[in-house]
Amino acid sequence: MKKPRITDTTLRDAHQSLWATRMRTEDMVPILEEIDKVGYHSLEMWGGATFDVCIRYLNEDPWERIRTIKKYVKQTPLQMLLRGQNLVGYSHYPDDVVIAFVDKAAECGIDIFRIFDALNDVRNLEVPMRAVKKTGKHAQACVVYTLSPVHTYQHFLETALRLQDMGADSICIKDMAGLLAPYAAYELVSLFKEKLDVPVQLHTHYVGGMAIGACLKAVEAGVDVFDACSGPLAFGSSQPPVETLVRALQGTPWDTGLDLHHLFKIANYWEDLRRRRGFERGVTRLNDMKVFDHQVPGGMITNLVVQLEEQKALHRLDEVLEEIPRVREDLGYPPLVTPTSQVVGIQAVLNVLLGERYKMVPQEVKDYVRGFYGKPPAPIKEEIKKLIIGDEEPITCRPADLLECRFEKIKEEIKDLAESEEDYITYALFPAVARRFFEYRRKVRSGEIEPVVAEEKEVSKPQPSQEARPEQVQVEPTPVEESAGTMTINDVKELVRLINETEINELHVETPSIKVNIRKGFLGSNPPTFGEFPQGVPNQTVKEASLPPAEKPAEEKPANLVEVTAPMVGTFYRAPAPDAPPFVEVGSKVKKGDTLCIIEAMKLMNEIEAECDGEVVEILAENGQPVEYGQVLFLIAPEE
Ligand code: CO
Repeated sequence: MKKPRITDTTLRDAHQSLWATRMRTEDMVPILEEIDKVGYHSLEMWGGATFDVCIRYLNEDPWERIRTIKKYVKQTPLQMLLRGQNLVGYSHYPDDVVIAFVDKAAECGIDIFRIFDALNDVRNLEVPMRAVKKTGKHAQACVVYTLSPVHTYQHFLETALRLQDMGADSICIKDMAGLLAPYAAYELVSLFKEKLDVPVQLHTHYVGGMAIGACLKAVEAGVDVFDACSGPLAFGSSQPPVETLVRALQGTPWDTGLDLHHLFKIANYWEDLRRRRGFERGVTRLNDMKVFDHQVPGGMITNLVVQLEEQKALHRLDEVLEEIPRVREDLGYPPLVTPTSQVVGIQAVLNVLLGERYKMVPQEVKDYVRGFYGKPPAPIKEEIKKLIIGDEEPITCRPADLLECRFEKIKEEIKDLAESEEDYITYALFPAVARRFFEYRRKVRSGEIEPVVAEEKEVSKPQPSQEARPEQVQVEPTPVEESAGTMTINDVKELVRLINETEINELHVETPSIKVNIRKGFLGSNPPTFGEFPQGVPNQTVKEASLPPAEKPAEEKPANLVEVTAPMVGTFYRAPAPDAPPFVEVGSKVKKGDTLCIIEAMKLMNEIEAECDGEVVEILAENGQPVEYGQVLFLIAPEE
């Protein structure tokens, strides 16, 4: 009987799921040599959200992290998670950027590339897989697991067979929401082991507790490798604990042979770090376990809370959770994983908030329907497609075929600050964040500012303040890749209730994944910082909190003018990009359906369209300024 092997995800998925990806390289270094001695199949330690978080929040060079870990880990292969053509970002990159990224990651020390596409559209894996093969490294391709009428064992098998034909060195069943039941794991792994020639690995999340059973049944079915992590970073939305699985298999034909005492020694280190830094333990709340019902992964719920909070509609979360499966069905059952979780989530939020389904459709959803993310698992409902893109025909080619190779051009833009080939790649992925990080780095080197260091502290206690100030709720989410939720809707509601019902005027709570600031009264809240916007749209994702617009005097407005109001809280933009001409000026003639402006809300750019033919007679909002729900943006004189 072949022993199953184990991939340790502690250095990537586990802290991404529980600690908002906030583990620093310096946190890892002291224990790396011990981890290297365990005998793991591989260490997943890079990719996913780690890249973004390094430059956005930790002021760390992500490429340096690979080199540092490689220095201490000499036996165990290093592994990364690659989001197919999205690399470690949120939208497709041109092929030349993909190839440059893979080459550099391999050169820095990545041995195994785990590659997935949210839609299981294998075309989106072609270029990254070919690039990996060319470097001579291991290309592991994923079959994303989800539940829907079209996601049958047959669908998963066909996907796996195609990936094998494309040269996958192994196949991973990627269960990002912890939905894989133990007996389904047995069936699926048995099928894969029977039909595939390459090794099969299982990646799952603990969430509702099925992961331990799923791993054990997968082992019985002959799985070659499964993922687990160190106990202090296990459970909750993270991986199952390695200690439990090693113990469960001891004395069976599938004994892993790993030394439990040594694993506990490593666990002690992580537990100590967890306490010192005030990081959370993995726990499963009822809302998380309800993933069995609504299939919405924990990290996505955290994002929904943030979006609804921004729109002052937190109380409508349950409606949104009910709308999500309907939108998912409309759109051909995309699995809920970055970036499709965002596409489905935002549309569900808008459908609920605006009281009419698909009244407003953000660019990302239009792009999805146009086929720019790839081929949906099932056809998109015809009437929904018509509602969203009219008579336009979706593309049928590989989406990145439409993207011009532009790495050389991108390099030109940052040559003032870039110091290495890696810097150019970082900039190509996250231009605005990268520029800020490079500027920070330069200032630190020249001694102009002190480097930011990790704080050692407990979770801060609520602190009453004498100052009566308006309520302000700031929730800073983490860029969510799969499941990272640690604060639930009920926690936030509870805080708001506490503020409203007590003498406390202000509360500040900070956990590794979320920061909440609540003050009595009301003031517009900060839009959250999320992933980078696609190219060509304003990049400032953090805005100053601002006072709601002064009560508009009920002044004389000619009765025949049509008011165009903001359908949501957000930032008003008159042009599609900072250097582009405005959509309309005073005096512009518009037709029904013409774009008047963009409102950036909930991380998306929403085009506001004219609802009648006519002439723009007044523009009442300032470019780049926040607008409130219902605020008048334009006055239009309708055509008779
Ligand atoms: Co995962």
